[in-house]
Amino acid sequence: MSPSSSGFRIGQGWDVHRIVTGRPLILGGITIPSDFGLEGHSDADVLAHAITDAILGAISAGDIGMHFPDTDPRWKGCDSLQFLRHACDLASEAGFTIGNVDSTVILEKPKLKDFRLPIRESLAKTMGLELSQVSVKFKTAERVGPVGEGKSSEAQAVVLLCSR
Ligand code: C5P
Ligand code: MG
Repeated sequence: MSPSSSGFRIGQGWDVHRIVTGRPLILGGITIPSDFGLEGHSDADVLAHAITDAILGAISAGDIGMHFPDTDPRWKGCDSLQFLRHACDLASEAGFTIGNVDSTVILEKPKLKDFRLPIRESLAKTMGLELSQVSVKFKTAERVGPVGEGKSSEAQAVVLLCSR
């Protein structure tokens, strides 16, 4: 049985972006009220990037930088949800639907839990999924390391793909 006909594929994604002032904080396509944002070539949506990499990983299609190089002016300041949509399209073309996505954003502040629903709705809409298929969790780094010291934010994601 070839790997792609085995029924399921799993993918994992991780990303980190530096915290800077003068940029918006965008997570899963939602702008979070904040005194600082994330640095990056695109809109630096660390959550969208981690989920995109998880989907690309599940279909062994490389990583986000391979599809959307940060040296390409086309992606400067762009909405990262388009990266996510592209990864979903590739998964669909490879014969898969998305079973579920689970993700975690690690950010010391601000508190994100009040934005969980809009972020999940935004991601679900982008990926063409039901709300129940998209989980988003938030963690601090307990003031330890670069994330804990407020220098950066990380995101992690896993995705399950099911063959059609
Ligand atoms: O990191 P910690 O376990 O202390 O986080 C406790 C809770 O705070 C999390 O379960 C999450 O719901 C919430 N949280 C948040 N925004 C963050 C970090 C954590 O809403 N930036
Ligand atoms: Mg990124």
